[in-house]
Amino acid sequence: MAAFDFDKIYPRKNTGSVKYDLAPALGLPEDVLPMWVADMDFRSPECVVEAIIERAKHGIFGYSEAPKGYFEALETWYRVRHNWHVQPAWLVKASGVVYAIAQAVRALTEKGDGVLIQEPVYYPFRDVVEKNDRKPVVSELVYKNGAYHVDFDDFERKIRDNNVRLFILCSPHNPVGRVWTKEELERMGDICLRYGVIVASDEIHADFVYPGYRHTVFAAIKQEFEQNSLIFTAPTKTFNLAGLHISNIFIPNPKLREKFQTETSRSGMSQLGIMGMVACQAAYEGGGAWLDALMAYLGDNVAYMRDFLRTRLPELTLIEPEGTYLTWVDFRTLGMTVEELEQFIKFKACLWLDGGTMFGESGAGFQRFNIACPRAILQDAMERLEKACRSRT
Ligand SMILES: Cc1ncc(COP(=O)(O)O)c(C=O)c1O
Repeated sequence: MAAFDFDKIYPRKNTGSVKYDLAPALGLPEDVLPMWVADMDFRSPECVVEAIIERAKHGIFGYSEAPKGYFEALETWYRVRHNWHVQPAWLVKASGVVYAIAQAVRALTEKGDGVLIQEPVYYPFRDVVEKNDRKPVVSELVYKNGAYHVDFDDFERKIRDNNVRLFILCSPHNPVGRVWTKEELERMGDICLRYGVIVASDEIHADFVYPGYRHTVFAAIKQEFEQNSLIFTAPTKTFNLAGLHISNIFIPNPKLREKFQTETSRSGMSQLGIMGMVACQAAYEGGGAWLDALMAYLGDNVAYMRDFLRTRLPELTLIEPEGTYLTWVDFRTLGMTVEELEQFIKFKACLWLDGGTMFGESGAGFQRFNIACPRAILQDAMERLEKACRSRT
C-alpha cells in the first residue's frame, strides 16, 4: 500500500466545515458536492496530528509564543524548497493571509489611494481594498492561446494614471493557475520600483507547482525587490490547516515592517493560538514527503479532469494549471448568462463551485473547481457535470 492514502474519503459533514456544512443555510441541494472554498478533503500529515495531540495532552493553553525551533523549521523549508534565505527579524506571524493583506493595505496606503490587482483574482483582494476605502485598480490578465498573461503596458499605465501605491500580487495565481516566471515577476517588479509601488506578494500557493514549472519567491529575485515587498506565506493551504489560522509574513525592509506591526497593534492583535504554531512547525519539519506524494496525486487529478473534459465534455475548456489545486474552466460555449450558469451548476449538476465573476467581471462564463479531493469525488463531480450537460441536448 502507498505510504499515504489520498483515495480515502473522510466524511466532513457536521464537523463545522465551511465547505460542507453551509449548504442548507445557503439554500443549496442537500446532496450538492462541494468543490468550492480552497481547503482539501485530505487529512493533514500524521506528524501534524500527532504534534497537536501531544501539545493538547499538556492541558494548559495560556498565552503562547512560537515554540522553540519554529523559525528554524520555516527557514529550512524556504531554503530547501524555494532557494530563499529568510532571516528571523523579517518574520511577522499573523492569523491569516487575508487578514495580513488587509493590515498591509491600511499600513502602507492612505484612503483613496489606488491598489493594483490582476483580475480575475482571488476575490478578497478587491474586498479588502474596497472595505478600507482604497481604490481597486485592475490590470486585467489577458487570456490568449489557452493561458493567461500580463499586459505589461496596461500594468504600467494603470499604475501611472491611478496613484497606485500598492500592488497585490497573487503568485502562483488563484484562480487562473499561472506560476509566474522569474522574467514576468521581474518585469512587474521593475515597473513597481520605477513608480514607488510596494509589492504585497501573496505566495500561499507556492508549494503547489506542477512538474515543468518553478515558483520564484518575489523577494528572492533581487535586493531591490526584497526591500520593496512583503511576502505572505502560510502552511495552511499546503498542509490543510486553514482552521488553525496561522500565517508567516516576511517583511525584510524594517520601515515597512514597522508600519505593518504598528497597524497590527492598532487593531489590538497580539499572540496567536498555540495549535496553529505547533501545527505549522510540525508540518514544515516533517511534512515534506507527504507533500511530495500529494503533488503527485494532485497532478493525476488534473490529468483525470483534463482527459474527462477532452473525451466526454469537449465543449468545456480546462485552463491548464501550472500550479495550485484550483482549476479554472471555460463554460462560455454553453452560451449561458452568468445567472443561468450559476443555476445550472448548483441545481442541475448539483455541484458547488466558485462562479467566475466572484473573481472579477472577466471571470464571466468560467467556474473554479477545487480538485484537492479523492479521485472518486472528482469522478463523481465530472459525471454530474456530464449528466447535466447531456440533459440540455
Ligand atoms: C491566494 C490566496 N490567499 C489567501 C488565501 C486565504 O488565506 P488565509 O486563510 O490565511 O486568510 C487563499 C485561500 O484560498 C488564497 O487562495
